[in-house]
Amino acid sequence: MSGEIRVEEVTEPFDGLVPAMAALVGQLSRSSPAPSADEVEEIVRSPACHLLLARDENGTIVGMLTLAVFRIPTGLRAWIEDVVVDEAGRGRGVGAALTNAAIRLANERGARTVDLTSRPSREAANRLYQRLGFVHRETNVYRFEAPSPAD
Ligand SMILES: CC(C)(COP(=O)(O)OP(=O)(O)OC[C@H]1O[C@@H](n2cnc3c(N)ncnc32)[C@H](O)[C@@H]1OP(=O)(O)O)[C@@H](O)C(=O)NCCC(=O)NCCS
Repeated sequence: MSGEIRVEEVTEPFDGLVPAMAALVGQLSRSSPAPSADEVEEIVRSPACHLLLARDENGTIVGMLTLAVFRIPTGLRAWIEDVVVDEAGRGRGVGAALTNAAIRLANERGARTVDLTSRPSREAANRLYQRLGFVHRETNVYRFEAPSPAD
């Protein structure tokens, strides 16, 4: 079935992109608001960010992934973020198609590594990444939350 899925990189904002991304962000995070039109444009125009969309055989957007590629002192690195497939279209290889496309793109750009994180509770995601060759690393993941403006 995955043969009917097309993955493309978004290089220009287009009609329908903002609501499609809003619908997908809503299935990824309860706490993150959907990106505004300006924010979507910023992502699409950023040289470091590659927004990949998956479309089904009808052209409907069924998933997205963002690949960040950036140079740091130890080399050109890539991170996969915000992978989400529309609930109705899961289990048919869309997530795999998006992730494989991101790996290809990172390789083409010359990235030394492709990293991602995924909470253990995201079982489908963790299975998917390991099936595609991602290897679990022993590291601690930390986050510093920016104080809210009222603080
Ligand atoms: C993780 C996610 C992107 C995978 O997308 P997907 O298109 O279902 O991925 P695939 O079909 O390529 O493979 C997913 C695996 O989950 C299984 N699966 C997930 N949802 C399923 C469903 N609704 N029905 C049947 N199988 C399902 C698939 O069979 C497959 O199992 P396998 O690895 O043992 O073969 C998707 O489940 C999702 O968007 N989840 C919510 C957001 C999320 O967790 N994102 C990842 C953040 S790190």
